[in-house]
Amino acid sequence: MAFNNLITKVESGIGWVIINRPDKLNALNRETVNEMTEAFQAFLGDGEVKAVILTGSGEKAFIAGADIRELAELDLDSGKDYVHNGQELTQLMEGFPKPVIAAVNGFALGGGTEMALSCHIRIASENAKMGQPEVKLGLIPGFGGTQRLSRLVGKGRALELILTGKIIGSQEALEIGLVNRVVPQEELLSVCEALAREMTANGPLALQFGIEAVNSGFDLPMEEALQLEADLFGKCCATGDSKEGTKAFLEKRKPEFQGK
Ligand code: COA
Repeated sequence: MAFNNLITKVESGIGWVIINRPDKLNALNRETVNEMTEAFQAFLGDGEVKAVILTGSGEKAFIAGADIRELAELDLDSGKDYVHNGQELTQLMEGFPKPVIAAVNGFALGGGTEMALSCHIRIASENAKMGQPEVKLGLIPGFGGTQRLSRLVGKGRALELILTGKIIGSQEALEIGLVNRVVPQEELLSVCEALAREMTANGPLALQFGIEAVNSGFDLPMEEALQLEADLFGKCCATGDSKEGTKAFLEKRKPEFQGK
């Protein structure tokens, strides 16, 4: 896949999406958002890809937000359309049936925090800076930030970030649960790779159903959510992978999952 604003590659089962506009701190213009959608769609259909890592090129920024030059031109209708386009990507990432990890390697502001929020897991380097500074531009988050941030860190903390527009460091992001872990920058990619491998050693259908159960069950009333869990558990039991996983345990050997 050749893109103007991304580098993508597949290495040992891991699909990499690397935003590549370092001179603009990897700010997301519309073309980059569309290329990300294309890259994730390609990885969705690529059986070789078992997990995806999203990061930014350079050492300074993950994604410094939506491209403010483009935001300046939006009006009522084009603004809505712009946001729908970005939300489509974040929905694709959040519902991705294989683990998606954000390697947050510096500034992750506005749309950058929102892209990280759409990943299943966020690992930050010590120099990461996160936040939703849209209010400083007279705007609000539009790629899912108002919804995903509050669901992840709680309404009070989300409102504080969204209404002040303040930028927080990696330690504070860890304390409020915005990121899963903070590591030295030079270890960030290898930690993310190791995490991806830890997950992809498990049954791929179990990963898919686990993501679906958590995502789809999160906003349901408990009874419906538990029914969803029961349905998906049943689906797991009907796979060859669950037969293989349980048999391998009993035979004291490593399972060989086929994704079936
Ligand atoms: N949109 C468009 N361009 C951006 C950008 C964005 N969100 N963030 C950074 N850039 C560009 C800058 O305009 C600059 O381009 P130039 O060299 O052509 O002037 C380049 O990236 C480097 O940024 P610069 O501001 O010089 O770096 P810095 O280290 O001084 O500051 C930030 C870094 C992240 C604090 C600062 O760039 C910033 O505040 N960016 C906007 C963050 C934001 O509000 N994001 C949310 C948007 S909804």
